[in-house]
Amino acid sequence: MTAASPAASVLRSSGAPAVASADQRTRIAVCALSKTFKSATGDVVAVDDVSFEVRQGEFVALLGPSGCGKSTILNMVAGLLDKSGGQISIDSDEVRHGTVNRKVGYVFQRDTVFPWRTVEANIGYGLEIAGVPKTERAEKVRRTIEVAGLAGFGKSFPRMLSGGMRQRVALMRTLILEPEILLMDEPFGALDTHTKLEMHKTLLEIWERERQTVLFVTHDLGEALTLSSRIILLSARPGRLKEDFEVPFPRPRDAVSLRETPEFGRLYSHIWHSLGQEFRRTKAE
Ligand SMILES: Nc1ncnc2c1ncn2[C@@H]1O[C@H](COP(=O)(O)OP(=O)(O)OP(=O)(O)O)[C@@H](O)[C@H]1O
Ligand SMILES: [Mg+2]
Repeated sequence: MTAASPAASVLRSSGAPAVASADQRTRIAVCALSKTFKSATGDVVAVDDVSFEVRQGEFVALLGPSGCGKSTILNMVAGLLDKSGGQISIDSDEVRHGTVNRKVGYVFQRDTVFPWRTVEANIGYGLEIAGVPKTERAEKVRRTIEVAGLAGFGKSFPRMLSGGMRQRVALMRTLILEPEILLMDEPFGALDTHTKLEMHKTLLEIWERERQTVLFVTHDLGEALTLSSRIILLSARPGRLKEDFEVPFPRPRDAVSLRETPEFGRLYSHIWHSLGQEFRRTKAE
C-alpha cells in the first residue's frame, strides 16, 4: 500500500485504510424490483423486474436513456420512495421506505446546496446535525474544502460560485460524512464537458483512495466508462436490466488520457451499440 498523503485521511477520520478489495460481500441487493406510478391520467410503469447486486468497494454505473427509471431505482434503494414489488436490501437488511440508513450517502441529480449557507456551513451541515464539536468540525471542513479545490471560498455563498463549484460543495457535503455506500444521481449532469472532467478527476482521486461502495446513475456512457468498475445497462422505459458489462481499465485512472486509449474506444463502441437502441426506442415513444 502507498503511504497516505495528508489529504488521504480527510474523508476518513480514523485514518484507517479502506476495506480490502478482497472483501466481496454484497452490500446492495436488488431483486425483482418494480415501480408503477399511479395517476389520474393512467399508470406509468417506470421499473420492471430489475435485479442486480453491488459488492463491497465496487463502483457500479446504472446507465440508461432519460426517463428509463434510473432515479426511481436509486430513490427506492435509498428508501426515499416506496416500491411496487420486489426486494431491496443493504447489508442483508431490508430497505424500508422512509427510514434513514446512516451508512448511505446520497448526492442528488439537482443542485441541492443551501443558498443561505456559506460553503463552509454547507459542507459542515451533516456534521453539525450529528453534533460534532465546533473545533473538530471546523478542522475537518477546512481540510475537505482543500481536497475539493475550493480553498479561499469557505466564506462564499453558493450564488458567488460557478455551477461546478456548487456541485463540488454538494459532493463534499455528503463525502465528509464518510458514507460506506454512496448513491449518486447524475451529480455532474448539468456541467459543461470541461468541468465534468474536472469533477471526474476529483471523484476518481477520492474513490480510489477510499473505495466506498458506489451506485452511480448516468446517461453518459463516457462518464460511466471513466469512473466505474461495472456498468448495468437499462432498457428504455419501463427500465429493465438489459446487460451487465465489466469495465476492466486499470486504476488509478486518468480521466483525460483514459479516453484516448484504444481499449476505451472499443468498449465505448460495444456498449454504444446497445445503448443507442434504447435511445432510439425512447425517441420513438
Ligand atoms: N412521481 C412521479 N409520478 C409519476 N410518474 C413519475 C414520477 N416520477 C417519475 N415518473 C415517471 O417514471 C419514469 C422514470 O422516471 P425517472 O425520473 O426515474 O427517470 P430517469 O431515468 O432518472 O430519467 P433522467 O435521466 O431524465 O433523470 C418517467 O417516465 C417519469 O415520467
Ligand atoms: Mg433521473
